[in-house]
Amino acid sequence: MHQEPLPQYLLSMTDAAIQTLLFDRRKKLKDRCIILGHHYQKDDVIIHADFVGDSLKLAKAATQYPDKQNIVFCGVHFMAETADILTSDKQRVALPELDAGCDMADMAKPADIEKAWHEVNALGIEHVIPVTYVNSSAAVKAFVGDHDGIVCTSGNADQIVRWALNRGQHVLFLPDQHLGRNVSKNVGLDPERDMLLWDPTKSLGGHNAENVKSSRVWLWKGHCPVHEEFTVAEIEDIRSRHPKMKIIVHPECSMAVCDLADAVGSTEKIIDTITSSPPGSEWAVGTEKNLVERLAKNLRDRTIVSLSPTPSVCSTMNKVTARHLAWILDELYQKNILRNQIKVEPAISASAKKALIRMMELS
Ligand code: 13P
Ligand code: SF4
Repeated sequence: MHQEPLPQYLLSMTDAAIQTLLFDRRKKLKDRCIILGHHYQKDDVIIHADFVGDSLKLAKAATQYPDKQNIVFCGVHFMAETADILTSDKQRVALPELDAGCDMADMAKPADIEKAWHEVNALGIEHVIPVTYVNSSAAVKAFVGDHDGIVCTSGNADQIVRWALNRGQHVLFLPDQHLGRNVSKNVGLDPERDMLLWDPTKSLGGHNAENVKSSRVWLWKGHCPVHEEFTVAEIEDIRSRHPKMKIIVHPECSMAVCDLADAVGSTEKIIDTITSSPPGSEWAVGTEKNLVERLAKNLRDRTIVSLSPTPSVCSTMNKVTARHLAWILDELYQKNILRNQIKVEPAISASAKKALIRMMELS
């Protein structure tokens, strides 16, 4: 399903009028609607969120408002799906822009995962625990849930991968190779000896049976286009020009970048670390542009820059605009219609929920 064009009356309103409408509709809907927002959203959207967080915090937040019938998720598709799976059937979840997906999540297709699973089964390999990053479709989470696996986020991935390695001989980590590699290294595995990159376009992921059998973690060949852009050269450049500057990056960055950084963490951890640093601190941040610019604006007594001279916004996340949010709230208020509802099919939802609940119980 794609996004339908917004109605003309909204398209012809000024940005200021949209903001006025948003403040008014939020007030009028406050008893039956909660707005959740991810840190990468634009400023004029995020100011309307009742709750702002990283993926883990937002998944937990979604479960904390059982009295709100409507949840409007200013984020991307997999986040709205997760909220729908974790909330009751009486609650409804909407995504203000239906085309707000996640490029990384799209890199793991259920049919490719089934194929990989059959290939390793045919080798007689058992005790494989699938772990999927929350940045994945509900169908991928359902596969993982049905195979005794678990979901992780960037905020709890170390703990979850340790859990999976204790339970199985092998871990299939979906869909972010970088997060999987960084985390597996953190828990003591050797990237060369214990991990391999699984290319779904090749048979056995591009490896021979011996290699597959001897590797503990199979890293799905997916990545985030925003975080893969940060480079070692950028770190070296910052270090040479600003020797006192600390570097903090998101674990979706490559292992080479994470290894050189002073700290690595989820968006929430990045914000907490910089916020709790003393005034005068200097930070170069390897994550999405909106978040870095907002931090710099809110913490003017610290120097906060992007690690890259040309940082990117997450183009899909940024499809959600204040105008789209105004459309959802206005239709809800005027006609009691929730546009852009994200409803996960019941069988998929039940299976995916198993993998999400395992994660919630652990973290
Ligand atoms: P966080 O859970 O750290 O917010 O990450 C979500 C995401 O999509 C980062 O690219
Ligand atoms: Fe997906 Fe990357 Fe955007 Fe995060 S920043 S939502 S991983 S494309």
